[in-house]
Amino acid sequence: MKKLLSIYLIFILSSVAYASFDEVIYNRIKMFKFSGASIKELRSAILVKDTEKAIEELAFHIIWSEKMKEAFPLGSHASTTNGSDASADIWRNFKKFEQFVNEYTRSARNLNDALKKENIDLIVNGFQDLATACKDCHKSFRN
Ligand code: HEC
Repeated sequence: MKKLLSIYLIFILSSVAYASFDEVIYNRIKMFKFSGASIKELRSAILVKDTEKAIEELAFHIIWSEKMKEAFPLGSHASTTNGSDASADIWRNFKKFEQFVNEYTRSARNLNDALKKENIDLIVNGFQDLATACKDCHKSFRN
C-alpha cells in the first residue's frame, strides 16, 4: 500500500512540468487530502504506541514535504473555477512559503528520530511541532 503510494507520488510529481494547472491542482489537493487522513492515523498510532505504524505514516510526510514546492508552480493559485484554496500570496512571498515547507520537513524528520529512539516526550513534542507546521502554513497561505 505504502509502496504503491510512493510510486504514485513520484509519478505525479515527475509529471508536474508537463501537466496543466488543473492537473497540478487536482494532484496536490489529492496529496493534501491524503496528508490530512495520514496525520490522524499517525496520531492514533502514537497514542497506542505503535511505533512501526507511526514511522510508516511519517515516511509519506517526509517525501511529500520534500516534493511539495514542485506542486506549486507559478500560476497555480486559486481561481473561481479551479477548486484550489492556494493563496496568490504564496508567489508574492515564496521565500516565506519555502520556510514553512522547510519547517514541515524538519518537524517530520525530528519526529521520525524521536520515534526511532522511542522517547515519549520527544515523540509528543515532535507530533505537536508537526501539527503546528501544517497550521502555520495554512494560516498564511490557504484561503
Ligand atoms: C507550506 C505550506 C503548507 C504546509 C506545510 C501544509 N499545507 Fe496543507 N495546504 C496548503 C495549501 C496552500 C493548501 C491549498 C491547496 C489547494 O487547494 O490548491 C492546503 C490544503 C490542505 C488540505 C485541504 C485539501 C482539500 O480537501 O482541499 C488539507 C486536508 C491539508 N492541507 C492538510 C495538511 C496537513 C495535515 C499538513 C501537515 C502534515 C499540511 N497540510 C501542511 C499548504 C500547506
